[in-house]
Amino acid sequence: MYQRQPELPVDWGSIASLYDIEHPACRGDEARFWHDRATEARTTVDGPILELASGSGRVCLALARKGHHVTGLELSSIMVDRATARSSRLSPSVRDRTTWVVGDMTDFTVGDGTFSVVFVAFNSFWLLDDAGQDECLAMMRRHLAPGGRIIIDVFPPTVQDYTDEDSISQFLGRKWHGRSVLRVKDYRYLIEPNAAISAVRYYSTDRDPRSPASMIGQFTYTLHPESPERVEARLCRAGFTVIETFGEYRGEPISPDSARAIFIATVTQPD
Ligand SMILES: C[S@@+](CC[C@H](N)C(=O)[O-])C[C@H]1O[C@@H](n2cnc3c(N)ncnc32)[C@H](O)[C@@H]1O
Repeated sequence: MYQRQPELPVDWGSIASLYDIEHPACRGDEARFWHDRATEARTTVDGPILELASGSGRVCLALARKGHHVTGLELSSIMVDRATARSSRLSPSVRDRTTWVVGDMTDFTVGDGTFSVVFVAFNSFWLLDDAGQDECLAMMRRHLAPGGRIIIDVFPPTVQDYTDEDSISQFLGRKWHGRSVLRVKDYRYLIEPNAAISAVRYYSTDRDPRSPASMIGQFTYTLHPESPERVEARLCRAGFTVIETFGEYRGEPISPDSARAIFIATVTQPD
């Protein structure tokens, strides 16, 4: 059976600069989606916004640029340092709307329960196992202002996500120190305990077969994806009512072909 390769780092900070090349900024439909959802929520409760697993600040910075006060909570201190450095390069008014915190999204205390929105973007909820997902929802609930909303943004798994594959290769869209970057992934899915393990290596190359590629980063991460129906049931068990779902950042509903499964929920009110 496939074993996770113990030699590979698990801290996303170990590939932070490559992550930022691969996912440079939150723009277009994705940025509009988060701004619109934050604006909508703040018409009911005008509190700050909390992103869990905020990485190097991609989504938080897009929201801060649009005038929202955001806190990003992130496990990797290297990612938090990057987010801090990125915001320090922005205008003082945007920078002053951002707060960065090192923390674990399954167990944290931040602020005083006044967040209008608490969200997990871009599949990071799948980084948590079954128990971790429940713990995270309890934390989200605890940090929400009365009337506030949580948002979980994940991909709905397809057949491909349950299929092992080696050497899935892709060039990144941006260069690293003037050279192309090739990302190579070995992927394994384990039914028990619903774990999708990716071992990723990055190579810098000038795409000339005569000159060697050199490895510039490697790490491994594990996802625990579930169907949209199971996410909704989990939210229900955690004391939330789903008020809206989306299958794309543009706003379409969830369908069998959706790229995203996005859930907006409020704390269930007693009858
Ligand atoms: C795919 S990146 C997403 C970053 C960011 N949300 C974005 O959209 O670019 C996942 C991030 O989740 C962080 N992470 C993993 N487990 C975490 C946990 N238990 N608590 C907080 N952050 C976590 C990783 O360190 C990594 O930076």
